[in-house]
Amino acid sequence: MICKEGRILITGASGQIGSELLHALCRKHGPDNVIAADIQPLAANAPACPFESLDVTQAERIEETIKKHRVETVYHLAAILSANGEKNPQLAWSVNMDGTYNVLEAARKLGLSRVFIPSSIAAFGPETPRVFTPQDTILKPKTMYGLTKVAGELLADYYVNRFGVDVRGCRFPGIISHGALPGGGTTDYAVAIYYEAVKYGRYSCFLGPDTRLPMMYMPDCLKSIFDLMSADFKNLRHHCDFNVTAMSFTPAEQAAEIRRHISDFEIVYRPDFRQAIADSWPQSLDDSPARAEWNWKPDYDLAAMTADMIGVLTKRLAEGRLGY
Ligand code: SER
Repeated sequence: MICKEGRILITGASGQIGSELLHALCRKHGPDNVIAADIQPLAANAPACPFESLDVTQAERIEETIKKHRVETVYHLAAILSANGEKNPQLAWSVNMDGTYNVLEAARKLGLSRVFIPSSIAAFGPETPRVFTPQDTILKPKTMYGLTKVAGELLADYYVNRFGVDVRGCRFPGIISHGALPGGGTTDYAVAIYYEAVKYGRYSCFLGPDTRLPMMYMPDCLKSIFDLMSADFKNLRHHCDFNVTAMSFTPAEQAAEIRRHISDFEIVYRPDFRQAIADSWPQSLDDSPARAEWNWKPDYDLAAMTADMIGVLTKRLAEGRLGY
């Protein structure tokens, strides 16, 4: 049976967000209606849905996949993140820019009903106001990842205005989860800290103690995607660049919260090249347009997220399946 959104394609379906979105969409619409695509194979516990090995820089493969499975909606999650992007800026440009352009072109040519393309807090830069960063502000990032996110937002907006393609997206903060590990971002420390706290009782952090960044727990990330995708297009004044946030904290504050569960948890700080990236990003975001235009409201704060992460990971460690 074809679901209301039509068949769905997820690119980057093996990644941190893509893999959990895949589970959630398969539960919602049935695995026959969701096509997972990635350059990497899916995890062993992935749903039994069709899988396409897909490099998003190959435009014809994207179009072929959409036609073959009669896809109506695309969630385009494939990307190279900030830290990996600085190690290989040429690859980040090609995957992030060509990938986004190819998905938008496929949407235009094949008349897709709806496309989701995430942006990031990396779209901001050192000249942006860092506290309660407004929705509409200076976008002059210094990383290749950030630069491709700004260009992607503008390109997506162009496809909305010029071709009437329905494209939507949020600027995600650091996303914390216990499914697939994040792959090469600056906010990855906020995930690793929980795994290492549970496994070793200590963590060496690659950002300094007072580095404040906006963050969000995976259930809220998925909720933001579903809420934005089901919003009435007429009510949206923005489309591809909504600020969304749930909480802001520093590594020291996160460590203090972890100590409420693991009292002897220890943390040391050894900032590396990622410190400069974090220092160019906002500390907190104003997401009032998302709240006004599609009723965005997160459920998790630092305390609730920490309790959940530690509970899940402790159980998994005891069962010998931490996977870290
Ligand atoms: N989590 C991402 C990164 O650190 C930000 O979008 O690169």
